[in-house]
Amino acid sequence: MKELIVELNNDRSYPIYIGSGLLNQSRLLTQHIQSKQVAIVSNVTVAPLYLAKLEAVLQDYTVQSVILPDGEQYKTLHYLEQIFDHLLANKFSRNSTLIALGGGVIGDMTGFAAACYQRGIAFIQIPTTLLAQVDSSVGGKTGVNHPLGKNMIGAFCQPKCVIADVDVLDSLEDRQLSAGLAEVIKYGLIRDIDFLFWLEANMKNLLARDKSALTYAIERSCINKAEVVGEDEFETGVRATLNLGHTFGHAIETGTGYGHYLHGEAVAIGCCLAADLSRRIGWLNLQEVERIIAIFKSAHLPVLTPEQMTVDHFLELMSVDKKNLDGKIRLILLEAMGKASLPINVDHAQLLATLKNYAG
Ligand code: NAD
Ligand code: GLY
Repeated sequence: MKELIVELNNDRSYPIYIGSGLLNQSRLLTQHIQSKQVAIVSNVTVAPLYLAKLEAVLQDYTVQSVILPDGEQYKTLHYLEQIFDHLLANKFSRNSTLIALGGGVIGDMTGFAAACYQRGIAFIQIPTTLLAQVDSSVGGKTGVNHPLGKNMIGAFCQPKCVIADVDVLDSLEDRQLSAGLAEVIKYGLIRDIDFLFWLEANMKNLLARDKSALTYAIERSCINKAEVVGEDEFETGVRATLNLGHTFGHAIETGTGYGHYLHGEAVAIGCCLAADLSRRIGWLNLQEVERIIAIFKSAHLPVLTPEQMTVDHFLELMSVDKKNLDGKIRLILLEAMGKASLPINVDHAQLLATLKNYAG
C-alpha cells in the first residue's frame, strides 16, 4: 500500500491510501472515525457492489446507508436534501461521520453534506472510479450543480482520509475508465512532463487495467494533486491550473445536459480546445497540439465538440465560470508541454477563432 499526505495547516493534513484489498482493512478506515454514528452515502450502482463489504468492516458501528440515484443529473440540491433528511431522521449528531462510497458525484455530494450538516461534520472519501481516485476525492472541493452552471453551489471541506482501492476499478465500465484517464493526462499536461511521456508509453497497459500501471498512475496523479492543494488549498493561485480544459468542458456538460458527456470526456475535449488556443497565442506549436490530441485519442476519449453546440452557446455558458472576474472569461492555457499558465484574460478574437475551428 502507498500512503501519501495532503499537507494542510491547522491539523487538517490527511492521508491518501492507494493499493489493493484496502476495503477489507478495517483499521485503515476506523482509525479516522470519531464516534459510533456513521452514514455511508452511495448510489444504486455502487451500493450492490461494495456496500456490504464496507458494512462488514464497520460491524462495531451504528451504520446507516443513504442510497441515491445514479448520475450527474442527480447532483442537485434536491437530492442533497435526501442526505440531510436521513441524518436528521436518524438523529445524527455533530461527531458523526459520513463516508462517500462512489465516484465523483457521490464524493462531491457527500462532502458538501458534511460541510453543511450542523455546520460541519467529518467525512471520508472511498472513491470507486478512476476519476474520483485521481482527482475528485482529493482536495476538498465539494458541491452540486445548478441548471445554469456546473458545481456552482458548494464549499471547501477536506476529508479525514481517502481510501483508493484499485480492486474496485475491476467493475468499472471502459468508458468510465477512459474518463478518469482524462484527468490523469491533465496532470502531465499542466505540471509533470515526465508523467506525460510515461502515459504515452503506457496507455495500452492502463486501458488493459494492468494493476501496477493503474496504481502508479493513481499515485503519481495524487502526488501532483496533493502538492497543488497543499500549496493553494482555496484556489487563490496555482490550484486553478487543475482546471485546464474545464471551462470549455463545463460548458459542454451544461450545454448538452448533465450526464450526456462524462466529466472526463468533456475535460478531454476542453483540453484540446485549450491547446488550440495556446497555439494561437504563440505558446504551443502545431506538433505539440497534435501530440496532445493524440494522447487523448489513445485513451479512447473524444476530442471534438458536440455537433449541437454553437460558438454562441459556448460563449454564453463559459460566461458562468468560477474563474471569471468582472464578467470576463479567464482560461488556463499551456505555456509549454507540462506547464500551465495561471488564469488569463484571452483575446476575444483568438477565443472566437478556436471556437469557430471546433464548433458550428
Ligand atoms: P460518477 O460519480 O458519475 O461515476 C461514474 C459512473 O460509474 C456512475 O454510473 C457510477 O455509479 C459508476 N461507478 C462508480 N464506481 C463504480 C465501480 N467501482 N464499478 C462500477 N461502476 C461504478 O462520475 P465520476 O467520473 O466518478 O465523477 C464525476 C464528477 O466528479 C463530476 O460531477 C465532476 O464535477 C466531479 N469532479 C469533482 C472534482 C473535485 O475536485 N471535487 C474533480 C473532478 C471531478
Ligand atoms: N478538480 C480541480 C480541483 O480540485 O481544484
